[in-house]
Parts: sequence; C-alpha cells; structure tokens
Amino acid sequence: MATHFHTLLFKGLSWPQLLSHPHKSSYQTIYPTLPSITRYTSYKMQNLFKFMEDGQNASDCRRCVWINGPVIVGAGPSGLATAACLREHGVPFVVLERAKCLASLWQNRTYDRLKLHLPKRFCELPSFPFPEDYPEYPTRRQFINYIESYADHFDIRPNFGQCVESAHYDETSGLWRVRTTAASATTATLSGPDVEYICRWLVVATGENAECVVPEIEGLRDFQGEVLHAADYKSGEKFSEKRVLVVGCGNSGMEVSLDLCNHNAHPSMIIRSSVHVLPREILGKSTFELAVFLVKWLPLWLVDKLLLILAWLVLGNLEKHGIKRPSTGPLELKNTKGKTPVLDIGALRKIRSGSIKVIPAGIKRIVGANQVEFMNGSRLEFDSVVLATGYKSNVPSWLKESEFFNNMGYPKSPFPNGWKGSKGLYAVGFTKRGLSGASSDAIRIAADIGSFWKQETKQQQQKKRVSSSVSYQRRCISQQF
Ligand SMILES: Cc1cc2nc3c(=O)[nH]c(=O)nc-3n(C[C@H](O)[C@H](O)[C@H](O)COP(=O)(O)OP(=O)(O)OC[C@H]3O[C@@H](n4cnc5c(N)ncnc54)[C@H](O)[C@@H]3O)c2cc1C
Ligand SMILES: NC(=O)c1ccc[n+]([C@@H]2O[C@H](COP(=O)([O-])OP(=O)(O)OC[C@H]3O[C@@H](n4cnc5c(N)ncnc54)[C@H](OP(=O)(O)O)[C@@H]3O)[C@@H](O)[C@H]2O)c1
Repeated sequence: MATHFHTLLFKGLSWPQLLSHPHKSSYQTIYPTLPSITRYTSYKMQNLFKFMEDGQNASDCRRCVWINGPVIVGAGPSGLATAACLREHGVPFVVLERAKCLASLWQNRTYDRLKLHLPKRFCELPSFPFPEDYPEYPTRRQFINYIESYADHFDIRPNFGQCVESAHYDETSGLWRVRTTAASATTATLSGPDVEYICRWLVVATGENAECVVPEIEGLRDFQGEVLHAADYKSGEKFSEKRVLVVGCGNSGMEVSLDLCNHNAHPSMIIRSSVHVLPREILGKSTFELAVFLVKWLPLWLVDKLLLILAWLVLGNLEKHGIKRPSTGPLELKNTKGKTPVLDIGALRKIRSGSIKVIPAGIKRIVGANQVEFMNGSRLEFDSVVLATGYKSNVPSWLKESEFFNNMGYPKSPFPNGWKGSKGLYAVGFTKRGLSGASSDAIRIAADIGSFWKQETKQQQQKKRVSSSVSYQRRCISQQF
C-alpha cells in the first residue's frame, strides 16, 4: 500500500536544497509532476516559496514536507477518530505522534487496574463498534486492543516519534507550518531527522491530559521516599505495607487509593476542597446513562437534585467520612467548570472501613526526610507520595495562536462549538466529555474538511475535462488543415 507520503511534495529536501531547486522559481514546471495538488494551493505555493526565502535560516537543515490534506497532531483516540472519518470522506492526511505507539496515554500512562468508567457504547469511536464479547466496562488492555484494531481497520499509520514543537499560520501563503523534532534518540532512527510539515488544515488532537500537573510543594525535594505522579503509577504491588500519601481525590486519586488497599498498603488521601462522588451504577443501571436519559426530559438543576438523592440512598452521608459535596450539582459543575464527578467503584467502602484515611486539608510543606505537615497543622509520616493531581493541555507550548485557543490550551468556545477555528484550524477532544465528546468533534471536522475537498476535486475535474476537450478540438482543427 502506498504510504501516506504519497501526498508529499519535496519529500526529503532540506530548506537549502529546496531553495536551490532548479524549479523553485517556476512553480508551473513542478506542478505537472505533483499528484492532485489543488488549484488553491498552486496559487498559494508561489507565496510559499517567498516565505521560505524570507524565513529560512541557512543553518537549518530541516526536511520540508508538503501535506496534501490535513495534519493531525496526536495519535490518541481523538486523532485516530478524526483520521478515520477523513478516510471515509476520501481526504488524505498525516498523523504526527510524539510517542512510539498509538494512544500513548492509555499504553504508557495509566495503571493496570484501569477500566472504562462509562458503558462501552458511550466510548466507541465513529464507525467501529467494540467487539460484542467485550464486557460493559472494558479493561485498559481491551481498550488498547480496540484502538489498535481501529487504526488497522482504517489503515491509519501515524508518523511516530515526531513531537510537534511549534505550529503557526503563515499569512503570506495561507498555510500552516508545523515543525517537529524527533522525540528521542531511539525514535530518531524510526522517524528520521527534524521536519517542517506544510499544510492547509491543522487538527489539534493532543488531548486534555498531555502533561501532568505537579504542584510546587515546599521541601518535596528532600523527601526520602518515592514521589510519583499517578501517570507513572502502575500497581500497588511494590507499596505493600507502606504508608502512602495520595494527593488528590479525583477518579485517579480514588482508584489509586483503592488499588493500594488491595495490595495491603496503607493509603491516606488528601481531599482539600469538595468533590461529587456518585455510584457508577444505580439499581444495576449506569448512573451516566441515567443522567443522559433524564437531561433529555428535565432541566439540569432537577436532574442534579435527583442524582444527589439517588447517590445519598446508595452511598449514604459522605460528610461524616470527610467528603464534602460542592454546592453546585454534579452536571452543572461539569458543564461550567469541567470538573468530573468521581464514579465510585469501591473506594468509598474502603473509606468507610477506615482502610483509606481521608485527610481534609492540603499539604503545607514536607519536613525532614518523611514528615508531611498539613494546612490544618497536623503532621504525619509517609513512605511514599502519589500525586493524583491531574493533567493539563500542552497546546500553549507549541501552537502559536491565541484567537481560537485560550491560555489554558482549550478552545475558547464551549461545547459543541469548540471544534472549528478560522484559517483551517480545528480542535478535537477538548470538550471535557471524554471519548464521546471526541467522537462528535471528529465527525464534524471530517465533514467540514471533506466538503472543501469534494468541492475542489470537482472543480479540478471540471477544469481537466474542459482542457482535454479544448485540446481535442485543437487536434481536430489541426488535422483538418
Ligand atoms: C487515567 C485516565 C482514565 C480515563 N478514562 C476515561 C474513560 O473511561 N472514558 C472516557 O471517555 N475518558 C477517559 N479518560 C479521558 C481520556 O483522556 C480520553 O478519553 C482520551 O484518552 C482522550 O483522547 P485524546 O486523543 O483526546 O487524548 P490522548 O489520549 O491524551 O492522546 C493525545 C496524543 O497526542 C500526543 N501528543 C501530545 N502532544 C504532542 C505533540 N506536541 N506532538 C505530537 N504528539 C503529541 C500524545 O502523545 C497522545 O498520544 C481518562 C483519562 C485518564 C487520564
Ligand atoms: N476509570 C476512569 O475512567 C478514570 C480513571 C481516572 C481518571 N479518569 C479521568 O481522567 C481525568 C483526570 O482525572 P484525575 O483524577 O487524574 O484528575 P482531576 O480530576 O483533575 O483531579 C485532580 C485532583 O487533585 C487535586 N489537587 C490538585 N492539586 C492539588 C494540591 N496541590 N493539593 C491537594 N490536592 C490537589 C484536586 O483537588 P481540587 O479539586 O481541590 O483542585 C483534585 O481532587 C478525568 O477526566 C477523569 O474522569 C478516568
């Protein structure tokens, strides 16, 4: 099968080589040798040569690669869903991924016991259901297998080991310039040298969890035990009999604490503010599914009230265990602040039994080798610390743009309008709605790019037909005379 590089122009040429290319000032001479390049682009490419000359540093030997279609940054579920939908519209694309595998968050930065929180039908990517024999809540391994089959099915082959370090829109040419570096010495052998991709459409699919949030804690460097982020936590096995401080009480903090208990460790979990904990299921039905059903018929505030009553009936009063609920309801909080409620899969039982201790105060500082002082003045000793303090987008670090994305790396327009910017820029998977939000973005993006693509392909074909009929008429005329 022809690689996606069939869409590339100037593949393998460095900037200096490109600038000294014999055809560089005569774009028309190069044009007939290029597969399916659009008319729009032929006009823009003349400007492209200009900005190459303006902006090129002579010492930069970066390869320059033209992509005849969108560049998708990130080969997680969002990037793959977009690629699959583009494939269905017949649009070529290139996916750039800094890691050496698909869905690197799931493969490299999640713990062994992880399962999807929501029933599988809410986590399916477009046009490809989960296998029927999968359980209602697939495991991490099953989800990774599903993702690999998905990429195979749609023949998506990302360029691995390519970390996007910058992307900006060039006004002169009307094109995006996306610069990558080989992610590591090992991956460099896989992916070759640093590259600059030039494209008309840029799809940002780097995710809401691209980087770990690591809080500044006074004295943490002097702590003698192991300190790790939840992204590096695999299993509680090595913490057996250890006193572990888990900082944070989101889904990660709760599940890491539960896993530590199951491996005979002694976890204490910090809940510095408030959190909504809901049962994953109510009377055998998914709480999420119930909420989705209710919001179709009832106002959000009423659904929130009903959910809290049901949660109280199933889980009881949580305040006496040190878990305060926010004054805003769970769905409203999710909509306004993007804060996900915890879906309990067993941590609460351990909290009630005292196996997981709750510390209702943030950390003030670390004292000496292993003592932690809390904001309420208490001090306790620990062997290890797990920072389940969440994640953040990395978009501001590489995308040179401030119209569409805010400074936290999220689209400024809220769901469902945050998928499309201007100048060919798109965002997928920044909805705070997990995999289902990513799928809905992907479908919209592919339809939008697909309609441009079809229009231009049609125009090109019409032009071809006209020019071949003109040359046929000319031939007939010359034969007559
Ligand atoms: C522990 C955990 C469990 C979760 N469980 C669920 C769940 O059960 N259900 C649910 O719906 N959601 C869940 N989520 C949310 C989850 O993030 C999304 O469902 C899903 O992974 C989002 O996919 P994505 O492609 O947008 O982001 P990611 O999966 O994070 O993929 C983004 C990709 O972009 C790559 N990348 C980042 N920066 C660059 C760069 N500069 N250059 C090149 N590549 C780059 C990354 O390496 C990564 O492979 C969970 C999240 C976590 C942390
Ligand atoms: N099975 C699953 O499906 C599953 C499992 C895990 C995670 N996830 C998903 O992954 C995403 C990330 O979840 P997450 O739990 O890793 O992160 P998160 O939801 O952002 O939670 C971070 C937690 O860390 C706390 N925190 C941050 N800084 C702190 C500090 N300095 N001191 C004390 N506490 C601090 C926060 O408290 P405050 O609220 O007070 O700021 C919050 O409790 C979510 O979408 C989640 O649903 C899903």
